[in-house]
Amino acid sequence: MRGAETDMIAAARGVAELRQALAAWREAGQSMALVPTMGALHAGHLALVARGKALCDRVVASIFVNPAQFGPGEDLSRYPRDENGDRQKLGSAGCDLAYLPAAAEMYPAGFSTTVAVGPLGEMLEGRFRPGHFSGVATVVTKLLLQAAPDIACFGEKDYQQLQIIRRLVRDLDIPVRIEAVETLREADGLALSSRNAYLTPDQRRRAPMLHHALTEVVRRARKGDPAAAAWGTHALIGAGFEKVDYCDIRDAETLEPLERLDRKARVLAAAWLGRTRLIDNLPLDPP
Ligand code: PAJ
Repeated sequence: MRGAETDMIAAARGVAELRQALAAWREAGQSMALVPTMGALHAGHLALVARGKALCDRVVASIFVNPAQFGPGEDLSRYPRDENGDRQKLGSAGCDLAYLPAAAEMYPAGFSTTVAVGPLGEMLEGRFRPGHFSGVATVVTKLLLQAAPDIACFGEKDYQQLQIIRRLVRDLDIPVRIEAVETLREADGLALSSRNAYLTPDQRRRAPMLHHALTEVVRRARKGDPAAAAWGTHALIGAGFEKVDYCDIRDAETLEPLERLDRKARVLAAAWLGRTRLIDNLPLDPP
């Protein structure tokens, strides 16, 4: 009983409460890392907390299922939520504070100002999730202004999101260092994701093929195969994915299509198992 309770870290539920906690740390000269999440925390999220802790004196994790980044037909209402479980995991991972703002705090009546992302938000994920990255960019901008962290940690799992946030802090002069953390995977290669909870046992058995296909695309592309990405799409369909939204090789920074593998690239894919959409990506360096 007590163990579980002591692991339950303190929570701030509004901006004022958050800033009060942070001010005390600042006065003591402590640095702070922010880890933005939507909750349903798994070891991938906790790896971001661990990185924050390694780099700063204090770590704040925000948990906010951001309605602005979900499209009309998407999984906002069924997105997994487990506040108590999340707070316990954060406590055990050495996080200092959970920031759990209410939707009305983040989007007060009359809210109308949003962050437009530009072309980087319209390609790949953006083509299939219109408005998604504007929703992400708006909430991340708010979180960065609310918490004013020294460092903010993001996962490479959501690679396009990471590049958009890097662009955003450069473009808007937000004084924060963006720290990228490598994708944490299950033993069979499947990238940890809150959405893996949706998979049926049969879908879960097929899901690691996403990582295996991307690994093979990387191998083929490095050998100079111009059809490497197309092979990936076929392999995913062959493995039982019903639909492949994209499987592409892109410039690692701008995410523009690549003609030749003459600089750092990234292989990115999104594919469906039943009603569940999985995304993954891998680095692809020139040979
Ligand atoms: P969420 O999907 O909860 O992810 C929070 C952070 O955890 C993101 O930076 C994501 O890339 C990282 N992450 C997820 N799975 C990971 C894994 N297997 N390995 C390493 N890192 C992983 O991404 C969001 O929330 C939201 O869009 C958010 C940025 C919080 C804005 O609402």
